[in-house]
Amino acid sequence: MTEKLFGKMPDGTPVEEYTLRDGELSCGVITYGGALRSLVLPDRAGKPVDILLGFDTLEDYQRQDKYIGALIGRYANRIGGSRFVLEGQEYRLAANESPNHLHGGVTGFDKQVWGVESALENTLTLTLQSPDGQEGYPGNLEVTVTYTLGDSALSIDYRAVSDRTTLCNLTNHAYWNLSGHNSGDIREQQFRLPNSRYTPVDAGAIPTGTIDPVEGTPMDLRQLQALGKREYDHNWAIDNWDGTLRLAAQAFSPGTGIDMEVLTTLPGIQFYTGNFLDGCPKGKGGAVYPRHGAFCLETQYYPNSPNIPDFPSAVLPAGEVWRSKTVYRFGKRDHHD
Ligand code: GLA
Repeated sequence: MTEKLFGKMPDGTPVEEYTLRDGELSCGVITYGGALRSLVLPDRAGKPVDILLGFDTLEDYQRQDKYIGALIGRYANRIGGSRFVLEGQEYRLAANESPNHLHGGVTGFDKQVWGVESALENTLTLTLQSPDGQEGYPGNLEVTVTYTLGDSALSIDYRAVSDRTTLCNLTNHAYWNLSGHNSGDIREQQFRLPNSRYTPVDAGAIPTGTIDPVEGTPMDLRQLQALGKREYDHNWAIDNWDGTLRLAAQAFSPGTGIDMEVLTTLPGIQFYTGNFLDGCPKGKGGAVYPRHGAFCLETQYYPNSPNIPDFPSAVLPAGEVWRSKTVYRFGKRDHHD
């Protein structure tokens, strides 16, 4: 593990970068947004490849509006109408994607400097205190996120406690490109979402409330297939969700032979193909990140669940511990059958 100063916030608060190592894997994390800044592993020829998008300076992180690599909270993805009712009381949230609330609001967890609780060779624990009323949410929320490298995987363990009943839906917004962060578009990369149902959305990307079969629709990605000309920004429902770790998605680059599986304890996963990536500042080493230059697989409660009683609930009762786990597991293959 190494630690170095990455930059300073306008008020002088230092932002550190930690680099975790385990065997052939290394992973950079900055305390601004708790963001994953790099993940380096060997390709099938043994050459190291960095498969995460990121920036060289803190100023670029602050300038971009794509949530690159960041931890997202309190509520990942959208809440329709930027409002919800909890225990008979209405709460209004920042409408930062008017009229809806996206990724925790104007100053979500992605834009805050996280504290460091512990740092070891292959594991880093970050903490954040989100005060009562921040971005409109009730309750003082204490959040702990642990990144761990091991067994050819990056694991993320999330934990949160609030002194009042609140909403909690934490995720990470890593942008992956399994051919290398600077390799351009991902159309040749292959994807599989083994899930048989998804949540259809309206024009504002808010779920309409049904959970529909993927069968016979472009959402049917149950067989590994190249992205091609399609684009996605949708939530799939994890089959037989019961809070245990389940396979939610798989991605593969025929170019590097790098294969990634995503497992989660949460009920949903957003597959987003970087449809709004253009306009992004230059990335690490001057890399250009075009539209479709990366993909995201964000494990989550379903978007707008606070307003849809039939969806699994993201309500965190006062004093109870919210936990979730997401694992990104890496392998190498010559090809997929
Ligand atoms: C999520 C959303 C997308 C977009 C990106 C950030 O994945 O679902 O619509 O807002 O974040 O650009």
